[in-house]
Amino acid sequence: MDLLLTGGMGYIGSHAAVVLTQAGHRVVLYDNLSNSAQVMVERLERITGVPPLFVDGDVRDTDRLRHTLRHHASEAVIHFAGLKVVGESLDIPLDYYANNVQGSISLLQAMREVGTRAMVFSSSANVYGEPRYLPVDEAHPTGVTNPYGRTKLQVEEILHDLARSDPAWRIVCLRYFNPVGAHESGLIGENPQGIPNNLMPYIAQVATGKLAELRVFGNDYPTLDGTGVRDFIHVMDLAEGHASAVGYLREHAGWQVINLGTGQGYSVLEMIRAFEAASGRRVPYRIAPRRPGDSASCYANPEKARRVLNWTARRTLAQMCATTWAFHSGAGGKGAA
Ligand code: NAD
Ligand code: UFG
Repeated sequence: MDLLLTGGMGYIGSHAAVVLTQAGHRVVLYDNLSNSAQVMVERLERITGVPPLFVDGDVRDTDRLRHTLRHHASEAVIHFAGLKVVGESLDIPLDYYANNVQGSISLLQAMREVGTRAMVFSSSANVYGEPRYLPVDEAHPTGVTNPYGRTKLQVEEILHDLARSDPAWRIVCLRYFNPVGAHESGLIGENPQGIPNNLMPYIAQVATGKLAELRVFGNDYPTLDGTGVRDFIHVMDLAEGHASAVGYLREHAGWQVINLGTGQGYSVLEMIRAFEAASGRRVPYRIAPRRPGDSASCYANPEKARRVLNWTARRTLAQMCATTWAFHSGAGGKGAA
């Protein structure tokens, strides 16, 4: 298929571009490079042997999107573009609503005008808020607690309304749990600007010596060792979930919301030990107070993805750590993600 990947130069979009290209799809990466870099184009070509088509554009630029969709005859859009840092969304909420909500409306308007009515949307487990039961399935009530989560939920609701209004729309919202890891080449991965907010890139930067020590946010949670438990999913498994969703959209109209997780939770201390084993480096840490807004445990019920998309996560925690280490300790980690 001819696919447009908004945010396709970013962490998850670039891994999806690899999987989709290798599956025979033609991908166009539409990105404003606000959190990625041009060097991605040559890295993707080195991995797949196919130079990706890149369009430097903002999703709020409806004219440019319309032109791009028409010119490349895009049959479906995977909408990764957006801002994603929970803490930052509390400081600059307007930027989050403009990029994530206004950007999505602009994209959907362009798609409607050119007659492209198939979309896979990057949503987040963040929309569930504090889990009321585990594992979290798609029937779990939503309960957003920050502007980032609200933008994701609002876009989901817009998409649901669209699908209700016109049966021609084909929409899958994927709620990701905690994506980690990198492509096995070590060429692409997650390399956040500044001090990382998320656990895995932080651990990786402590292991390389870039940061001195990890702060473990709380060791008094009701979990196996007192530290937070999350559903870490290898980004290549996540990328393959998008290929399955695109296959599903070929056959089915309507609206679906589907978790992408492994169903297995690991604690912060388990992550540290697994990373030390994969890297052969020590990861010094100290226990710090709980981070406000964090829940004790969050992991997915991935049954619907298995049933509807015929997809399950396959890669192990050791693979998540080994590929993260290969990326951070090699050439990949020195450029932008
Ligand atoms: P990322 O920041 O690496 O990638 C996003 C890409 O979108 C970047 O290349 C950025 O330059 C681009 N972009 C941002 N605003 C844009 C705009 N207005 N117009 C065009 N391009 C724009 O993030 P990621 O981790 O790859 O996340 C991709 C999507 O998945 C996001 O929508 C994010 O909210 C969602 N998500 C991510 C996680 C996670 O932990 N990484 C978890 C759940 C959901
Ligand atoms: N943690 C630490 N020290 C750190 C960073 C994190 O102990 O320096 C702990 C957290 O307290 C938590 C666990 O590691 O227990 C995971 O934290 P992350 O920040 O990596 O991930 P979160 O589950 O908090 O949130 C992430 C994204 C959200 C997304 C959610 C579900 O940041 O946007 O996963 O997809 F919604």
